Amino acid sequence: MASLELKNVGKAYGRKRVLEDVSLTFTPGLTLLVGPSGAGKSTLLRLIATAERPNRGTIAWNGRNGARGALRKTLGYAPQAVDLPEDLTAREFALHIAALKGLNQTQADKQFGAITDAIGLHADINNRIASFSGGMRRRLIFAQALLGAPQVLALDEPTAELDGETARKLGALIVERAKDAIVVMTTHLADELAPHAVQVLRVEGGRVSPSQTARQPEPVE
Ligand SMILES: Nc1ncnc2c1ncn2[C@@H]1O[C@H](COP(=O)(O)OP(=O)(O)OP(=O)(O)O)[C@@H](O)[C@H]1O
Ligand SMILES: [Mg+2]
Repeated sequence: MASLELKNVGKAYGRKRVLEDVSLTFTPGLTLLVGPSGAGKSTLLRLIATAERPNRGTIAWNGRNGARGALRKTLGYAPQAVDLPEDLTAREFALHIAALKGLNQTQADKQFGAITDAIGLHADINNRIASFSGGMRRRLIFAQALLGAPQVLALDEPTAELDGETARKLGALIVERAKDAIVVMTTHLADELAPHAVQVLRVEGGRVSPSQTARQPEPVE
């Protein structure tokens, strides 16, 4: 079974220590990150997504320390904030990301079509990103992360700016993916998704600790 393990990880920006001595193990299933603004949730997701390196400690993928290349081959990352290529259509952008992930155009179109259909974005995929609303951008960032069916998904506020119904559609897809993949996410819908999570972790004061007892995942309605 796939495993991602953080051992005594510390992360600082200059003199500001954000995470201290964090040790965590992720196996397939949904992990929710909660905690106050500025606590370090996005920082933790960036470390998992290999977008940044820890100052201390190690991150092991399937038992291999620092296997960043192997992890990147099967990683989907939806950052909290990112600049999108405004002149491209959503589909053109998705094809570009899919190519980086090693998918051919047929696979990419099939997957992107199915994902965008499930989250109410399909009608807009041939429109330029410049014309997209905040919620459409958020869904596009989410959809590109899922391309290639990654074994590790790091999702930073994928449901922000979405109405309740659309957010729940994303939630259902996330729960579905978490049957096979390691999914680590922050969301303002943590309470709703908690019954489906294998662990809920609280990030606060540089530490990461269990927020509640892990429950058995329940099927999504
Ligand atoms: N590139 C950076 N340079 C300097 N400080 C940073 C950088 N990125 C984050 N920080 C600081 O690290 C701390 C944690 O930020 P982070 O974005 O991880 O918090 P968060 O828990 O995701 O917050 P939010 O809930 O508001 O998204 C904050 O104090 C932030 O100012
Ligand atoms: Mg954040």
